[in-house]
Amino acid sequence: MKTLIAPSLLASDFNNLSKEIEMINESEADWIHFDVMDGRFVPNISFGIPVCASINKIAKKPIDVHLMIVEPEKYVKDFKDAGASSISVHIEASPHLHRTIGLIKELGCKAGVAINPHTTVEQLENVLADIDFVNVMTVNPGFGGQKFIKQALAKIKKLRAMANELNPNLGIEVDGGVDLTNIKEIKDAGANIFVAGSAVFKAENPKETISKMKLI
Ligand code: DX5
Ligand code: ZN
Repeated sequence: MKTLIAPSLLASDFNNLSKEIEMINESEADWIHFDVMDGRFVPNISFGIPVCASINKIAKKPIDVHLMIVEPEKYVKDFKDAGASSISVHIEASPHLHRTIGLIKELGCKAGVAINPHTTVEQLENVLADIDFVNVMTVNPGFGGQKFIKQALAKIKKLRAMANELNPNLGIEVDGGVDLTNIKEIKDAGANIFVAGSAVFKAENPKETISKMKLI
């Protein structure tokens, strides 16, 4: 399965957003991870639709929108129109998850379901065949720069085994605390899409860090 690196803009320099996007454009990154927070589902507020649309004007890589918001179904069309190529919604925020997945796919986006650290992978069983990827949160969502939660490795292994049965092409994205010291063991557990905020944007050489991550 192809390894994809998705730098998370949450850790970028918002005063120089176009420079940061240029850096990603020139790098070996595969996706641009865009974290949307509403101050309700998570205890923080980030950025939203107009910022996504602005980035989309200059981004040469697909935008991966991670909705950490309540009632995500209300906004998936707006994010698609703002340039999203993949959209993940949280299982914990979606009482009608199956319908929301259908909506994302009808819009022509890749559909992802994100799960918080306390959520079991078994809860995904009935939607696994319908989605393109799972975003396994390896920190509690809401903030960048947190420590990777190691128990997630066992979850990723279990999820890869479930996917082998139900959806062999399933992408497994990991989000939170991913860096050059742990990316190899996360990959070995079965993940293939790596979100990295601080590890990329706080690095001395972000482009080189992305290349190193890609090489694992
Ligand atoms: C956390 C976000 C992550 C975050 C990752 O709620 O979903 O995408 O930006 O940042 P790092 O890589 O710094 O943990
Ligand atoms: Zn994220």
